[in-house]
Amino acid sequence: MSLSPLTPPTMQEVHVWQWDLDACVSEFDRYWKTLSAQEHERAGNFRFELHRCRYVTGRGKLRQILGHYAGLPARAVALEYGPEGKPFCTSRPAGWRICFNLSHSENTAALAVSNGFEVGIDVEHIRAIEESMPVQVFSAREREQFDALPASERQTVFFETWARKEACLKALGTGFILPPEHFEFDLAVHGDTTPRFVGGEAQEAAHWRVRALTSGRTCAGAVAARRAEWSIVEMN
Ligand SMILES: CC(C)(COP(=O)(O)OP(=O)(O)OC[C@H]1O[C@@H](n2cnc3c(N)ncnc32)[C@H](O)[C@@H]1OP(=O)(O)O)[C@@H](O)C(=O)NCCC(=O)NCCS
Repeated sequence: MSLSPLTPPTMQEVHVWQWDLDACVSEFDRYWKTLSAQEHERAGNFRFELHRCRYVTGRGKLRQILGHYAGLPARAVALEYGPEGKPFCTSRPAGWRICFNLSHSENTAALAVSNGFEVGIDVEHIRAIEESMPVQVFSAREREQFDALPASERQTVFFETWARKEACLKALGTGFILPPEHFEFDLAVHGDTTPRFVGGEAQEAAHWRVRALTSGRTCAGAVAARRAEWSIVEMN
């Protein structure tokens, strides 16, 4: 592998990489060798082979890409974890700080890489909505908007909103330790947006930007950061 580093994102960019976890399975052995002892242990805990393979190809490709940015072999990329499990990269290339977040849904993986500011990403395969889901995910205001939608629009709006909320909670690093309604959105706005309220506050919400991912028609996806001026650069 070449060690010449990739150009870092600017402070106004988030690099987004997407790949098919199942298409990478031929690389399994190569990726396996790049994983840490802790990652090997976690891989060993999956009950189903498919999930184990997806975890290994997800982490392997993550390490490969971060290694390209840092000018390091994939196995030398140093990863540590926040209190709620958010992984972060402690390998420091000259002149910038790698921030990243990874998401996977079924066979789709997506990685966001930013320069010095926290980022969150979520992809969701669009699937049937279980009855309890809107109650779990939406605030009362959002549910009112959702219930007024024609049935034909509900599925895409539901997963678009879910991806936005999860991307924001992953940017914070809390995940669902905070409730999904902590970030509240206007469901009438599609694509790029700003939350209406964060923790009930409009002023805090104004600091956030959420960009939509173009992952095809089978997935909804979003990237979020508490920062005003940035845009996505698709890397593949
Ligand atoms: C973060 C969270 C929303 C991810 O849910 P998910 O359905 O696995 O969703 P995604 O596929 O989008 O994200 C998974 C990836 O997010 C990253 N991640 C894990 N915890 C994270 C966190 N707290 N914040 C941001 N990103 C996180 C990891 O890279 C993970 O993938 P990997 O383990 O294969 O590397 C969910 O796990 C959560 O709410 N966690 C926090 C609460 C918790 O359970 N803490 C206990 C662990 S210490």
